[in-house]
Amino acid sequence: MNEIAPGARLLQTEGLIAGYVPEVDILSGVSVSVNEGEIVTIVGPNGAGKSTLIKTIFGLLRPRAGRIVFRSEDIAGRKPHDITRLGLSYVPQLDNVFPSLTVEENLEMGSLDRSRTAEQRQRMYELFPRLGERRGQAAGTMSGGERQMVAMAKALMPDPEVLLLDEPSAGLAPAFVDAIFEKTQEVNQAGVTIVMVEQNARRALTMSDRGYVLDLGRDRFEGPGKQLLEDPKVAELYLGGTARIDRAEAAPE
Ligand SMILES: Nc1ncnc2c1ncn2[C@@H]1O[C@H](COP(=O)(O)OP(=O)(O)O)[C@@H](O)[C@H]1O
Ligand SMILES: [Mg+2]
Repeated sequence: MNEIAPGARLLQTEGLIAGYVPEVDILSGVSVSVNEGEIVTIVGPNGAGKSTLIKTIFGLLRPRAGRIVFRSEDIAGRKPHDITRLGLSYVPQLDNVFPSLTVEENLEMGSLDRSRTAEQRQRMYELFPRLGERRGQAAGTMSGGERQMVAMAKALMPDPEVLLLDEPSAGLAPAFVDAIFEKTQEVNQAGVTIVMVEQNARRALTMSDRGYVLDLGRDRFEGPGKQLLEDPKVAELYLGGTARIDRAEAAPE
């Protein structure tokens, strides 16, 4: 099944155009590519279309034009259910767990194969020991950071090749921001390719192989994470000035 060599292109959008209402394009031609094994972060101002891009890749929004190629298949227009079966999982920014269900039940909802549910759940408890300890607790009664871990674990249950993460650290207390970024790296090291949108742009780009800056529905800059961080134009326009330390590190809230 794994016929693509490490580092080969795994996912690509070409000239993606999409929107929610007729004649209003939110994505106005977005071309991004992701290689196997990478962490790729998409940054950009509020309203740039970052979430829309992720939702379009995952089949929640049908593109008006352009291609979405996963391995060698154009998946544009496919439904999320099919896309999950192909090997992509998505963690939305909000409403990403079933609050009244327990951790265990949430993970079960993420499973595609009943015969493997127990084994996969056990793997998730190894990756997220805290979830193992809380397996009987309703997800809605957990802290924001714990809920985010439930959401990630649920998305990882089908053993995806690509994990799409929309703002995984948003609204979390600093200790959980660290934990979520660490877990994301751990998941990546276990072989899952990561495509992530993050407000915590400096921090996310620091741990990314490559990044894109999306603005007004177009990809404006791309490059290795560190190169984007050092690009004075990117820093000035999108990262809140030059050579500043990540705000989260400088002044934890
Ligand atoms: N469900 C929706 N219906 C209509 N417009 C939407 C919807 N979701 C987002 N938008 C609009 O699309 C634009 C981009 O939003 P979004 O992709 O969420 O940006 P970002 O994630 O970069 O902050 C915004 O102008 C937003 O108002
Ligand atoms: Mg968003």
